[in-house]
Amino acid sequence: MTNFTGAQFPLNFLSSPLHTPHTATRMNALTPDALVGQLRWRYATKQFDSSRKIPADVWAALEQSLVLSPSSFGLQPWKFIIVTSQAVKQSFVPVSWNQTQPADCSHHVVFTVRKNLTEADVDRFIQSIADTRGVAVESQKGYRDVMVGFAANLAKQGQVREWATRQVYIALGNFMTCCATLGVDTCPMEGIVPAEYDKLLGLEGGDFTTVVACAAGYRAAGDKYASLPKVRFPASEVIQRA
Ligand SMILES: Cc1cc2nc3c(=O)[nH]c(=O)nc-3n(C[C@H](O)[C@H](O)[C@H](O)COP(=O)(O)O)c2cc1C
Repeated sequence: MTNFTGAQFPLNFLSSPLHTPHTATRMNALTPDALVGQLRWRYATKQFDSSRKIPADVWAALEQSLVLSPSSFGLQPWKFIIVTSQAVKQSFVPVSWNQTQPADCSHHVVFTVRKNLTEADVDRFIQSIADTRGVAVESQKGYRDVMVGFAANLAKQGQVREWATRQVYIALGNFMTCCATLGVDTCPMEGIVPAEYDKLLGLEGGDFTTVVACAAGYRAAGDKYASLPKVRFPASEVIQRA
């Protein structure tokens, strides 16, 4: 993989509180060339090296890529379930179209979403804003009312899960790209049976349901997919300028 140069973070973000804003002017962590290099290095890994585990410090940063993912209004209608137990990872194989990535990866991440978005959920978020930013709950009344109206409208149209799913896919993309920049392989997985995942994870009857999963770890030396050329439509076709 590419060797990065110039990764000069002014703070140790992993050991600073979650809410520390990054105020650095330009961190220059990655050159444009290094970024594209890592994007090309990434591929949907079919075979993981089951003997290699993601080190704790690397994983801690990748967890932050989940926690720090943006979402509509900031409502974070998700829970990320990190599976490292070999027995549980193995149990996912038959409910993942017999794909072996869940068993052989280091960390299998299950992306789940809220089934409902209630006024209480909005209030919990408002409280979190008030606590984090040291402002009065009442000062957020306008924002709260907009979100409550938005949530009610989604519920009326039966669109809560669809909306939450769109949010969690942003987290999935964010996670995969962050993995690639740290040299960690991934395989996003829609080839799963979400209802069976819910059963295995004890989610049935709860507030969250499985949408998609992502295996993370290190490619096996023999994974022939690693060396296949990337298949993409040309930029001239998928990018339009105006
Ligand atoms: C949402 C999503 C779900 C996917 N599900 C699977 C899957 O279940 N199994 C698999 O091997 N690849 C899966 N893929 C990988 C795609 O097939 C792959 O990203 C695509 O062919 C492009 O190849 P590349 O990622 O290697 O560049 C999925 C990709 C995405 C984005």
